Amino acid sequence: MRSVTIGLLLTAGVALGQPAQAKRGMALFWESPDAGSRCGACHSLEGRGQAIAPDLRRLAGLSPRGIKTAILSTVTEYVVTPKLKSGKAFPALKGEETDKTIVLWDLSTTPPQAKQTDKSEVLGYGTNTTWKHPPSSANLTTKHLADVIAYLRFVTKGDTRGVSEDDL
Ligand code: HEC
Repeated sequence: MRSVTIGLLLTAGVALGQPAQAKRGMALFWESPDAGSRCGACHSLEGRGQAIAPDLRRLAGLSPRGIKTAILSTVTEYVVTPKLKSGKAFPALKGEETDKTIVLWDLSTTPPQAKQTDKSEVLGYGTNTTWKHPPSSANLTTKHLADVIAYLRFVTKGDTRGVSEDDL
């Protein structure tokens, strides 16, 4: 009788709580000692972190393999090279704007730095040719990728099935 109760409690715990794989992925996302794979330095999730880089909740519909491709991609879509009157050049993401100012997130440092910039200082925006998504060169193992994708799928879809390395 007792073992049945414990068994039920364990099953309920797994269904409601965060599975072990997603927990490992969460630790990597927020606390990886390697800056290139500390996703939370740039991406916010679960109301935590600074929303500098794209909102990863958008990826909820993708397959684990699709998410892996996006993580390892060396092609960028949003990163720009602002052309400033000062002549300074750095890869950036555009942040909050008002009529007169725009926040440029300087991606040349990790974590990125917010540069409050007068729009009159910006002559234009060029395409990014230098910045590459850090995880693409962070030597993440397939196991690390499976863990972090399991975390993303748990947070965005409540998916508790986890991600097998064979799916990647
Ligand atoms: C130094 C900042 C930084 C770190 C660290 C970082 N990212 Fe990113 N990430 C970005 C930026 C910037 C983009 C947008 C690139 C572009 O397409 O212009 C991006 C894009 C992505 C995309 C594609 C999103 C989309 O909508 O197309 C995924 C998925 C992603 N990151 C996941 C991760 C994961 C998972 C990690 C950790 C293993 C991570 N990122 C670490 C800055 C970062």
